[in-house]
Amino acid sequence: MTGRSIAYQLLALLSLSGGLAGPALAGAGAGDGSEMIVNGVVVDEGQIPWQVLVTRTWTTDKGETWIGTCGGSLIAPQWVLTAAHCLEEEGVANKAAEMEVGYGSVHRNKLKTVKVEQVIPHADYESKGSDIGLIKLKQPIGILKPIEIAAPEIDATLHAGNSNAAPTYTVSGWGRLLDVGGMDLESQFQQFGAQAAQQIAEAIYSPEQLRKVDLVEFDVKDCSELYQKAGYSGPTGTVDVERNICAEGKTGRADSCQGDSGGPLVAKVQGRYVQIGVVSWGHSCADEVFPGVYTKVSSYTDWINDTMHATAASDASAKQ
Ligand code: ARG
Repeated sequence: MTGRSIAYQLLALLSLSGGLAGPALAGAGAGDGSEMIVNGVVVDEGQIPWQVLVTRTWTTDKGETWIGTCGGSLIAPQWVLTAAHCLEEEGVANKAAEMEVGYGSVHRNKLKTVKVEQVIPHADYESKGSDIGLIKLKQPIGILKPIEIAAPEIDATLHAGNSNAAPTYTVSGWGRLLDVGGMDLESQFQQFGAQAAQQIAEAIYSPEQLRKVDLVEFDVKDCSELYQKAGYSGPTGTVDVERNICAEGKTGRADSCQGDSGGPLVAKVQGRYVQIGVVSWGHSCADEVFPGVYTKVSSYTDWINDTMHATAASDASAKQ
């Protein structure tokens, strides 16, 4: 992505977000903002009730406090599905005490929180790139409706019928609105004043309101080849045609982005929503060439169910 197109996208974003920077940007010819990640639509309260925000707060050896956020989905009253890379570092699972799950609103600052009892990244994440994991909550969230996870048959249903029509999906999250790489947004926008610069950076890096965008499936074999040819390799840089799904903007460029990881990619199947994928990785965001890569939920249905049941069973025996 060129510097010019980044500036262009930022201008588009600013004009959409109510012109934080004021008249200086009026008439900037910002286009329709269709290049923005999560391309535009905010989610209303209650529209995606299974969406959660997974937060990790920890202190480094130097005494600095860091906060990392990911998306996730409630798949049972006491269980959240997310990405393994949100739950571990170098094969070591995060401490449950550092993790928290926010739920019950589309606004970051209105989220209720629940503590975490157990963090379970998939054991094959480091070696095979199974970027999926489970969080067991300390208490069940009774008031929210969990999302159904895709069984292998669902996948077959989605791909049956007219082979020209690729399945369509919706992805949601509180992640970045743009990939601006290592760009220091605040210094970029100092010309509008320090406060505006900070607000702009915040609006782009950690939007307050949940967003969603419609995507269309991108052939997984082509996706795998594309990334391989570009030199991507290793367990977390390989598109596994059996265990990943790729998706791109349905109309124009759109994608999930940093901070959306672990969040749900869903499809409407026979009138109900089913979770098909988990946000995993991609080259930049809403790139012209590279689609987003998702963990294919239906390849892990057994792992998910077995893990939830095994944990429930061991809890029961521990209480005896
Ligand atoms: N790894 C990112 C995260 O931790 C998600 C990136 C998704 N990228 C994409 N182009 N779809 O939040």
